[in-house]
Amino acid sequence: MSSVITESFVASGANIVDACRRYTLFEWSAQSHVDPIPVARAKGVHFWTPEGKRFIDFNSQLMCVNIGHGDERVIRAVQEQVASLAYVNPFLASEVRARLGMKLAQLCPGDIDTFFFTNGGSEANENAIRIARLCTGRHKILARYRSYHGGTAGSLTLTGDPRRWPAEPGIPGVIRVAHPYHGMHRESDSAPTALAAIEEIIQLEGPHTIAAFILEPVTGTNGVLPPPPGYLEGVRELCTRHGILMIADEVMSGFGRTGAWFAVDHWGVVPDILTMAKGLTSAYVPLGAVGVRRSIAEYFQSNVLYGGLTYNSHPLGCAAALATIGVYEEDNLIERAKERGILMASLLESLKAKHPSVGATRSIGLFGIVELVRNRTTLEPLAPFNGTSPEMQALGRFFRDAGLYTFVRWNTFFANPPLSISEAELHEAFEIIDRALTITDQAVVM
Ligand SMILES: Cc1ncc(COP(=O)(O)O)c(C=O)c1O
Repeated sequence: MSSVITESFVASGANIVDACRRYTLFEWSAQSHVDPIPVARAKGVHFWTPEGKRFIDFNSQLMCVNIGHGDERVIRAVQEQVASLAYVNPFLASEVRARLGMKLAQLCPGDIDTFFFTNGGSEANENAIRIARLCTGRHKILARYRSYHGGTAGSLTLTGDPRRWPAEPGIPGVIRVAHPYHGMHRESDSAPTALAAIEEIIQLEGPHTIAAFILEPVTGTNGVLPPPPGYLEGVRELCTRHGILMIADEVMSGFGRTGAWFAVDHWGVVPDILTMAKGLTSAYVPLGAVGVRRSIAEYFQSNVLYGGLTYNSHPLGCAAALATIGVYEEDNLIERAKERGILMASLLESLKAKHPSVGATRSIGLFGIVELVRNRTTLEPLAPFNGTSPEMQALGRFFRDAGLYTFVRWNTFFANPPLSISEAELHEAFEIIDRALTITDQAVVM
């Protein structure tokens, strides 16, 4: 054991960063490249370093703190829960678990009314595919490119982005299909084209071997991509016709992010299984869930649900979720996300009109993204697929210096503020973005 002197540790921003880098590992990164912002506290749409530098949280951390930071109603609910019953094992029953199950049954689409709780989104997806395999007796899972479903073995195999590559070959039985979006510089598929391609793969694989098709109804980190008109309805129909269970991964798109409780609600589609996490508790405490339709819940009345976790239905997670849902309802946050989303879409549109480096903007509710280009005619991205560029790095540095926190990924950056953001705060963030884009504009060949 190395000798570490913790008594004299002074929690300055620099010391926190040094010790985190020295004694802990950061995810998805070569450790020498990480340069984290030290964070001491957070409230509303802002967070602060120990030295008091303020950031506007324009990504709701990891697209999860949907209600904003430091909400007293959730804090109190978790405090009360920890004091009365901090933990109970998942073979026992608790009031908070009962109440959360009932509440989610009210909010979820169609007859999705039964829930299996996990610690987060990856575990929700692991259990969703297990459930699909158990109740169909089939083993293949269809998943899409340009997707993210989690960092554990199965969920990472489902994932259609470069984070999967080092973990290959992954779990057996996962078949990937194309996403209708092929990048800014290529044409997107219409729903009929995309659906015909999926159906061909279903035929070639053998429909009777396919348990489920998992997809993000609105793709998240791979580009904030709403489906083309008719696509989700078509996927629903294909799945029904072939006895394939449709799994909607709403880990990022759920709980108001798109201006509806769940993204599928925009298209009136009821999946067979719906996975959630992030906004479920607004990340105050980790919790994920798998919601299933009545017929699947009934299957497990007489068949064993082979799956379990020590922290399944953790009372603190359930208390945080119930209180968070209470905040969405009390503050009308779902409706508000829809309204603010209209303002955000127009602010994004003005960026595109003004800045030559803005090749495309997309948003639905408060789920938004900007794609930057080097060439306005060819739409060549400002950074390559899975890469970065000096201009994107400079943009990231500008945001950081100016006190705007968001995700800068490849040639894109995200606009995913807490749903509680005010109009003034939204304008404040866009004013910083407007200034920042003068950097990337300089790289553009007209
Ligand atoms: C769509 C989607 N599914 C699953 C996950 C994995 O969730 P978690 O990181 O909570 O395990 C994420 C996380 O970003 C996600 O965006």
